Amino acid sequence: MTTGGDRARLTVCVVGPGGREHVLASVLARTAHVVVAPGNPGMSALSAGRFSCVNADPEEVDADLWVVGPEAPLVSGLADRLRARGRLVFGPGSDGARLEGSKAWMKEVLASAGVPTAGYGAFDAEGPAVEYLRSLPPPWIVKTDGLAAGKGVLVTHDLDTAIADVRAKLSGVAFGAAGRQVVIEEGLAGPELSVMAVCDGVRALPLAAARDYKRAGDGDTGPNTGGMGAVSPVPGTGADMVDVVMRTAVEPTLAALRERGVDYRGVLYAGVMLTAAGPKILEFNVRFGDPESQVVMPRWQGDIAAVLAAAAAGRLDSAPPIEWSGDAAVTVILAADGYPESPRPGDLIAGLAAAAAEPNVSVYAAGVAAATGGSSPDGLVTAGGRVVAVTGKGPDVAGARARAYAGVSHISWDGLTYRHDIAAPTPAGTAPEIASRR
Ligand code: AMP
Ligand code: GLY
Repeated sequence: MTTGGDRARLTVCVVGPGGREHVLASVLARTAHVVVAPGNPGMSALSAGRFSCVNADPEEVDADLWVVGPEAPLVSGLADRLRARGRLVFGPGSDGARLEGSKAWMKEVLASAGVPTAGYGAFDAEGPAVEYLRSLPPPWIVKTDGLAAGKGVLVTHDLDTAIADVRAKLSGVAFGAAGRQVVIEEGLAGPELSVMAVCDGVRALPLAAARDYKRAGDGDTGPNTGGMGAVSPVPGTGADMVDVVMRTAVEPTLAALRERGVDYRGVLYAGVMLTAAGPKILEFNVRFGDPESQVVMPRWQGDIAAVLAAAAAGRLDSAPPIEWSGDAAVTVILAADGYPESPRPGDLIAGLAAAAAEPNVSVYAAGVAAATGGSSPDGLVTAGGRVVAVTGKGPDVAGARARAYAGVSHISWDGLTYRHDIAAPTPAGTAPEIASRR
């Protein structure tokens, strides 16, 4: 499609500052001119001139297509404002983004569409919330209704902890307005899967599945985070599982949105738990996953810009086919000291260039800032929880994993933390096959 030379190239504005936007920019730049707004200084340093970052309001950037990375601008209507000016946008309007902006609304939509999901109650008062908690067996799951950067979910086997969490959320102490309503869910068990689909309002095309490692510590211990690493393809999970999720969850949800008058053009990302009773939806996100994108995007072959432009135009039927590299990809998130509770900013980062120079290793920058003063080796300091993602590719998961950790070994800063077991062979008893063994 873009073989007609440079004039046929789209200019794509990728909106957002993090690792997901970095990998999006990298893959879109294969066939399009890419400008990231705002991006970050690590992205610029590692892009080798293949794309650029502008510190500008994305609405002021001149482009043919906008691809919005994070959920917050979607929830607050960036896509609506761009569309009102006739722009082509990949990302839902605020009506569709409510799926992620309000877990209570999401659960309502899923229930109306008959999508398998955990039983739940939504509460804005402590009494009924605690009563509902007491009626459920452990584990207890307490979620903020609103956005909390992946950190608003408590999973606990201690009822007192759950009750205290309800109190902290409802009072506004823990998460401000996002916690003024809580969703309490029945606890599910099983391995997890992230299935992202590109939607054009009517049609949905699945991307390769990925698995995100949400807990902070090795062996799935510690608090939930935005994600500490990811792998794609997911060992033990075949394309048939993606088909089941599309049929039972993504397609009915897209239809339910349409019935509500929502013309949903963007990513529907299903967070799935593979329970003994089949796949159940934990949540929908309204954008590409982070860090799932850092493993899925590098495996996506061909003209990604053309696919996203077709979806944005409501014409996925005219999109080029979505094809996958046979390679596996593994990404490891390197986090700042104190993540997720209180990540420490300002630590000097070293070794990013050496990591990126390793064969089959890519480094994607997220929570970084330009160092002031001259002593920083990479000119960067930590400035967020998840600082960089290091992705390795290989002929299989073990090979990709080895490449990712080879990249990680070059990078250092004070207090650097990461998980050592991303994409390690699945421990016995949690094999993903349990869902399909029924
Ligand atoms: P969410 O942001 O809703 O996907 O939740 C974050 C994480 O909390 C999930 O990836 C699961 O690991 C865990 N979780 C969420 N809901 C449940 C549930 N109903 N039962 C068990 N674990 C859950
Ligand atoms: N990896 C989880 C998310 O993107 O929400």
